Amino acid sequence: MATALNTQFGINGQLKFREDAPVKGTPPDTRPVGGLGAASGLIVAEINNALGSASVCLQGAHLMSWQPKSQPVPVVWLSRDTQPAVGKSIRGGAPVCWPWFGAHATESSFSGHGYARTVPWQVIESGTEPNGATRLTLRLVESDKTRAQWPHDCNVDLTVIVGETLRMELTTENTGSTDFVIGEALHTYFQIGDIGAVRVTGLEGCDYWDKVGGSSLRTQDGAISFSGETDRVYINSAAECVIHDDKLKRRIHIAKSGSFSTVVWTPWVEKANKMGDMGQPDGWREMVCVESANAIENVVKIAAGTRHTLIVEYRAESA
Ligand code: BG6
Repeated sequence: MATALNTQFGINGQLKFREDAPVKGTPPDTRPVGGLGAASGLIVAEINNALGSASVCLQGAHLMSWQPKSQPVPVVWLSRDTQPAVGKSIRGGAPVCWPWFGAHATESSFSGHGYARTVPWQVIESGTEPNGATRLTLRLVESDKTRAQWPHDCNVDLTVIVGETLRMELTTENTGSTDFVIGEALHTYFQIGDIGAVRVTGLEGCDYWDKVGGSSLRTQDGAISFSGETDRVYINSAAECVIHDDKLKRRIHIAKSGSFSTVVWTPWVEKANKMGDMGQPDGWREMVCVESANAIENVVKIAAGTRHTLIVEYRAESA
C-alpha cells in the first residue's frame, strides 16, 4: 500500500509513505523518536523539506511530530511509550477530536473525543507550496462503524502544511440535507523543557470550565502557570496563545481561526501514572496540550450544504 501511495502522492525528496513494519526484538526505549517502531502495520507519511520535518499517521490523520529546521528540539511532543495499534489512539502529536469533544452527550459506550482519531483516513492530495512547504490532505473514511455513531452525510478533511510553521486545516462539509452540530479539537501536545517552567499567555480574562474536581466556571487571572493537574476549557476565545518556555528558551505561538474554545491540559503525576503511556518516568513533565477547539457552548452548527474549517498555525521562536 505504501508503494501505491508513493507512486500517486509521493514527492521526491519531500514526502514519502512507509508501512510501519515489525522490528523484531526492538525494546521500547530504542525505537526511533517520531516513528512508530512497533509492529503496528500502520502507514505513516514522512515529510522532510528545507524548512522542517513532520510525520503523519494515516490512521486518525494523526500528526505525530513536527520540527522546523530552525529549532534544535521538536515542537510537537510524542510519548516515547506510545504503542500505536489499529483502532487505538496515539499518545502525543495532534489527535483529531471529532465529531464531539470529551464524552459523548448521551452514549457512554462511544469513545471520548469522537472516533476520528482511531479510524482510517485516505490521502486525497499532496503538493508543494510556493514557499517550499509540503502539503498533504487526508479524508476520513466512512464505514458501518462510523455511520453507527454519526449518521450524517459529510466530508471531513485535514490538510497539513509542513514548513518553518505548521498549519493544519480541519474542514467539515455537510453534504446532506439536514443541519448537524459538531464538537472538535486539534488536541496538540507541545514539547516543553519542564511543565514547572512554562507559562501560557493569551487567555487572560477569559472564562473557562475547570474540569479538575468537578466542573465549575471560572475566569482566568493573568498568565497560566502549572503546579498540579490542569484541565480547562476556555470558552468564547479566538485569541492567539503563546507558550513561554524558560527552560528550552523559546516561545511557541498558537494562532487559529474558526475555533472559539481553547483547552489547556496537563495530567500531572498521579493521572499520568494511571494513563501508563505518557513516557515513564516523567514524560508528562515535557508536554503541555494547548488545544484549538469548539467545545461545550462553542459547538458548531453546520447547515446542510455548507462547510466549516478550523485552522491552526504554529510557530516557534528562540527567546
Ligand atoms: C483533554 C481533556 O482534552 O484530553 C482531558 O480535556 C483528557 O480531560 C485529555 O484527559 C486526554 O484525553 P485522552 O482521551 O486522549 O486520554
